[in-house]
Amino acid sequence: MKIAIGSDHAAFFMKEEIRAYLEEQGHEVTDCGTYSPERCDYPVFGERVALAVKAGEAERGVLICGTGVGISLAANKVKGIRAAVCSEPFTARLSRQHNDAQIIAFGARVVGIGMAKMIVDAFLEAEFEGGRHADRVALIGEIENRRG
Ligand code: RB5
Repeated sequence: MKIAIGSDHAAFFMKEEIRAYLEEQGHEVTDCGTYSPERCDYPVFGERVALAVKAGEAERGVLICGTGVGISLAANKVKGIRAAVCSEPFTARLSRQHNDAQIIAFGARVVGIGMAKMIVDAFLEAEFEGGRHADRVALIGEIENRRG
């Protein structure tokens, strides 16, 4: 699978580990930065990953900052993008099955590397269930269209 990954400085080392983990599994990973632990601004990387997913350059996105919150908020400003912040695999799986999230986000200051890998696995393995969930996801898009 083509996956875009991004983080800020707070999550740089975790992003490097998750990138390697995904590559070991045979995924084609685009690293959208940051590329060092030097202080930087999480919205930059949230937007980059969101745009890569929106453009179809990546099927899924992985975003990591200190908490996962700021970087997901930035990604969700890109129309049509659904980025879900998760601290455990149950929510990560449901974010695919019910919400059709294309991007998973989590916090390097919140979860350890073992939990982060489980979150990513759950997210990538699950598929959108459609049906009634598709109607609800469409309503999210309608809000974007009405409220801009
Ligand atoms: C950076 O210090 C921190 O604010 C950022 O990584 C993130 O947690 C923001 O939501």
